[in-house]
Amino acid sequence: MLQNNHVPDDVFECRTRHPRERRRDVDDGERMTSASPIGPSAVDPLLHIEQHGTPHVLRDRLASDVRRGLTARPKRLPPKYFYDDRGSELFDAICDLPEYYLTRTEHALLRRVAPAIIAAVEPSHLIELGSGASRKTRVLLDALQRSQPRPVYVPIDVSGGMLQQSATALRAAYPRLRVYGLVADFEEGLPPLPVGRRRLVAYLGSSIGNFEPPADQRLLRAIASRLQPGDALLLGVDLVKATATLEAAYDDAAGLTAEFNRNILRVINRELGADFDPDRFEHVAFYNAEAAQVEMHLRAREAHAVSIPALDLVVSFEAGETIHTECSRKFTRDVVETLLASSGFRLERWDESPDAAFALALGRVETAA
Ligand SMILES: C[S@@+](CC[C@H](N)C(=O)[O-])C[C@H]1O[C@@H](n2cnc3c(N)ncnc32)[C@H](O)[C@@H]1O
Repeated sequence: MLQNNHVPDDVFECRTRHPRERRRDVDDGERMTSASPIGPSAVDPLLHIEQHGTPHVLRDRLASDVRRGLTARPKRLPPKYFYDDRGSELFDAICDLPEYYLTRTEHALLRRVAPAIIAAVEPSHLIELGSGASRKTRVLLDALQRSQPRPVYVPIDVSGGMLQQSATALRAAYPRLRVYGLVADFEEGLPPLPVGRRRLVAYLGSSIGNFEPPADQRLLRAIASRLQPGDALLLGVDLVKATATLEAAYDDAAGLTAEFNRNILRVINRELGADFDPDRFEHVAFYNAEAAQVEMHLRAREAHAVSIPALDLVVSFEAGETIHTECSRKFTRDVVETLLASSGFRLERWDESPDAAFALALGRVETAA
C-alpha cells in the first residue's frame, strides 16, 4: 500500500480523512458501492480514487428518495439511481446504438473543437462531472497532454465501478496523466474540487438536461462557486429537433433503453429488498414539446402492489399508472446562454455539429471587476 505522501498535496482543496479511514467505509460489506478498491492505488502512484459518502449514507438517501418519490402523485424516481454497475454498462451500450445520435455527434464535435478549447483555456486540470466511461473525454485528454507536461484528470461519478474501470483504462492509455477520481453524488453537494493553475470542468452528454430548473442553475452555481476567474466550464447540450428523432433516441429498437429504465427497479429490489417485477412495467418515452424535454416513464401494465420491506411500505399501482424516471431537456443557444449567465459564467464559445443536433458551450468564470 502506498503511503499518503505519494498523493501530491496540491491536488485537492481539502483532504479531510486518511485513506485507511475511507477504506473502512467501503469494506464494511454494504452493497451501495461496487467491490472496487478505493484510495491510493497499490500499484500505480498516479491513480487515486476517493469515495464521498459512506454506503450507509448512500442507502439512507436512496431510501428517503424512494419513499418520497413513490408516495408522491404522480410517482417519480431520481435518474441517478439507474447507474449501478449494470446500469452504467447498459448506458455505455446505448451510446453505440444507431438511434442514440447524441454520443457520436458530440464525439465528432469534440474532435473538431477540442484543440481550440484546450488552447483557449490552457487547463492544468480537467475535471469531469458524470464521467461514466470517459470515452469522449479522450479527445480532450489528447489535446491536454499535448499542451501540459503533468496533466491532471478528475472524473466525478456516482457509479464507483464504472469510474474505477475507466480511470484504470485511462492511466494505461495516458502514462503521464494523474487521475484522481471522486465517487460522489454531486446533487447532494459538489465535493471539493482540486486546486490548480487553471481548471476546465467538462459536463458532457447533455446530462445537465436531467436537471429541471432551478436545479440546473443550482448545480452550475455550485460549480462556479468552486472555481476561480479564468477557469471554465464545457457543457455538452442536446438541441431541440424533430420529435421522431428525439423519441427514437430514447426508445431504441433493440430495447436497451427500456432495460436501462427498468434497471432502477432492480436497484430498489437489491438495495431495499423490494419485490418489483420489472416485466410488469412498460418503458415509455415521449417528447413533451411544451417543456422541451424527452420524458421517460415506467407504466404499470396492470394493477398490482409492490412491497418495500426496508421502508415498511407497500406501494399500489393502478393499471396504466406511471413512475416518471427521467427528463432530458433539449436546449437552444438562448436558453444555455441565459442559464450560464445566471450561474456565473460568460458564454465564450458556442460550437454546433454540422446538422445542428448538438452543441458545446464554453462558459468562462467572469474575471472579478
Ligand atoms: C447520461 S450518463 C453520461 C456519461 C458520459 N458523461 C457521456 O457523456 O456519455 C450520466 C453519468 O452521470 C452519472 N451521474 C448521474 N447522476 C449523478 C449524480 N447525481 N452524481 C454523480 N454522478 C451522476 C452517471 O453515473 C453517469 O455516468
